[in-house]
Amino acid sequence: MSSSDGQSQHVYSRDYALALDVQDPLHGIRKEYVIPSKAQLRVKSLPEAGTKHSESTSSDDLAIYLCGNSLGVQPRITSIRMQQYFTTWATQGVYGHFKPLAESPLPTWLDADARASDCIAPIVGALPSEVAVMETLTANLHLLMSAFYKPDINGRHKIIIENQAFPSDHFAAESQILHHDLSPSTSLVTIEPPGLPQSALSTAYILSVIEKHASTTAVLLLPGIQFYTGQYFDIPTITKAAQAAGIFVIWDLAHAVGNVPLKLHDWNVDAAVWCSYKYLNAGPGAVGGLFVHEKNSQVSSEAGNLTFANRLSGWWGSSKASRFTMDNRFVPIPGASGFQLSNPSILDITSLNASLEMFAKAGGMQPIREKSVKITAYLETLIRNMAAYSGKQFEIITPSDQDQRGAQLSLRLQSGLLDTVMKALEERGVVVDERRPDVIRVAPAPLYNSFEDCFLFVEAFAEALHVAETR
Ligand SMILES: Cc1ncc(COP(=O)(O)O)c(C=O)c1O
Repeated sequence: MSSSDGQSQHVYSRDYALALDVQDPLHGIRKEYVIPSKAQLRVKSLPEAGTKHSESTSSDDLAIYLCGNSLGVQPRITSIRMQQYFTTWATQGVYGHFKPLAESPLPTWLDADARASDCIAPIVGALPSEVAVMETLTANLHLLMSAFYKPDINGRHKIIIENQAFPSDHFAAESQILHHDLSPSTSLVTIEPPGLPQSALSTAYILSVIEKHASTTAVLLLPGIQFYTGQYFDIPTITKAAQAAGIFVIWDLAHAVGNVPLKLHDWNVDAAVWCSYKYLNAGPGAVGGLFVHEKNSQVSSEAGNLTFANRLSGWWGSSKASRFTMDNRFVPIPGASGFQLSNPSILDITSLNASLEMFAKAGGMQPIREKSVKITAYLETLIRNMAAYSGKQFEIITPSDQDQRGAQLSLRLQSGLLDTVMKALEERGVVVDERRPDVIRVAPAPLYNSFEDCFLFVEAFAEALHVAETR
């Protein structure tokens, strides 16, 4: 029992959740996001253009949106910045590329990607020059491998991934191997969990696989946070061990960026990729990002000859000064920007930059993580309490240790329950996602989810399990 106002409140009560919201230093930021209402989620036609977003803040009206691990909700600032972008385009045309406008919060389009890199760098713990906001996650993986995966069948030719790798990562690794006329059967190593399928992988076990293939492996590709189990891997320890074995280390940070604080530069990570539509709230399919440690992106010049990591390249990776000289000489920008191909979508970058304003307003990743640890532990406590009386219908497969997870809890349901439970949750205005065969992923995103959301989710989840059991 505890209370913020001195009155006794039961830990498992809605009042207790509301009291936690009152104490939450980030609670005020929730109103800066557009959370769909339950009624909106039920409509089957597009509201007229110009329809105002729901201004409701009542938790009875709003959906219980715990799906930031898949698609973050829209920050209110986004439509304002997008409108400013549309106005710039409409009134300036091509001048928008280079003409700064007084009173505009937007950078010129030629500088928009650099502004985004500056804003992302503290979120991933990188120097701004080590970050490029570009392309999409899988495309960036291929671009990194084009530069750093140079297999030699008589030496280092293997790529190590996990058995449960996100399919796109699996396809990327497999196709890179095939692209070099090698065979995945000999060059792709998948880390199989020694215990149950889809269970967490211990660091010691991962290190044992690295050790086993140490002399023949070129690249290790792992997720910062595993999409299915929600496990947060020990990035610095694994990176160090793999590099000591001579392996180039790439991290897929799709589920880690904007979720947990990262220190890519200090951890000496070789390279990493991410998307911006999950915890970064930039919108569906929005521009991705790439990190290349400064040690891997140097460009040196001797007697007019340039030395740099060769890569698939395009004009946007070539020095800004020479970009318009059209002399067909690739002069890579030192740093991650040198891996860019095309001029980026300003539409995307405007949306991303708008969302990143909210990260700055929240005070950066530290307060976000502090709330994340607290709200995820609270959700876990409520779920475990519920599990105590709901029998063996599900288990939490995400590690309980806060250092081994971000905001996501994955709940593995008893076989056959998933469809009914998801339908019952949807009917109650709960938005979470499923991963077949049996998992529901629930993610309280600290910028816009409340402790009350967690309370309401657990209430609805108990009902949904009851529906599934008595159907
Ligand atoms: C872990 C992980 N890797 C890769 C991807 C693929 O991302 P993209 O479609 O942006 O290439 C996703 C998408 O959700 C993902 O979750």
